Amino acid sequence: MAELKGRNFLTLMDFTPEEIRHFLDLAAKFKKMKKEGRTHDGLKGKNVALIFEKTSTRTRCSFEVAAHDLGMQTTYLDNSGSQLGKKESVEDTASVLGRMYDGIEYRGFGQERVETIAEYSGVPTWNGLTDEYHPTQILADMLTVREYLKDEKGKKFVYMGDARFNMGNSLMIGCAKLGLHFVACAPKKYFPNEELVNKCRAWAAESGGSITLTEDTDEAVKNADVIYTDVWVSMGEPAGIWEERIRDLTPYKVTMEKMNKASENAIFMHCLPAFHDLKTEVGKEMGEKYGFNDMEVTDEVFSKYRDVLFDEAENRMHTIKAVMAATLGYEG
Ligand code: CP
Ligand code: NVA
Repeated sequence: MAELKGRNFLTLMDFTPEEIRHFLDLAAKFKKMKKEGRTHDGLKGKNVALIFEKTSTRTRCSFEVAAHDLGMQTTYLDNSGSQLGKKESVEDTASVLGRMYDGIEYRGFGQERVETIAEYSGVPTWNGLTDEYHPTQILADMLTVREYLKDEKGKKFVYMGDARFNMGNSLMIGCAKLGLHFVACAPKKYFPNEELVNKCRAWAAESGGSITLTEDTDEAVKNADVIYTDVWVSMGEPAGIWEERIRDLTPYKVTMEKMNKASENAIFMHCLPAFHDLKTEVGKEMGEKYGFNDMEVTDEVFSKYRDVLFDEAENRMHTIKAVMAATLGYEG
């Protein structure tokens, strides 16, 4: 799709449903090529910079593996290894990187930072997660929905938890554009902001989808095709809010009881990492302090849907590859 060449990938709001579907189709094509051992390195000679102001496993590895598969070289920059923010402004850093690299990935805090990088670098810039949006994750999620439920259109997609941060916002946008019935299920104070909800309702009206906000978990999970959750405290948020989040969001934990009320073929999804047991520093600390074995999802649910969850994680790589390839003008 020629019109994707040279574009930034900052939020799904900037793309039409056809363009989003094109990314998904291209990702599926690259996935097939990779599984069949067919090379797709048409971007040989190009270089991309990967900036991570927050930590990452999936997104970083996806960008690196995908870039290498496409024939490109990568440079990883984190807080400790560059001047960004401390000795050099975002604007000046972007201006430098734009002279050397063909594309730039950014993960960090406010959305305005990735927008500034796009503006000053002049090369395609990809959002690897900000406080507001996580658009590459949504492509992986939608590819996974396609693989498990055939078609994403018309599906009831329920997000439980903090629905006003990056994952809640971006899933709502993606669902609205692609014609899914999106339900944000959370206490009112965790609902996405009204301005974004209104925009999404307008897109949903065109795509045949819908947007529902509810505090009622029974109403939400009834006939759900997908039940999705995310961590209760996101990267960059203060540690002091754990107690309040645990209190507010425990009724929205994804349990087998909730999954059993969903549609027969419903799947559970999570962007990961997940607190489904006590095998992490934070999980162990919180579990011991508040007396539980899991947080946003029980280990039972996590284990039952392991295949979906790790296919979803793998799909990060195939979809990120499609984003870099299409915006750099390579269609495989
Ligand atoms: N889902 C996701 O973005 O994972 P990472 O934080 O490991 O990149
Ligand atoms: N909401 C989470 C998503 C992690 C992929 C965070 O921002 O930490």
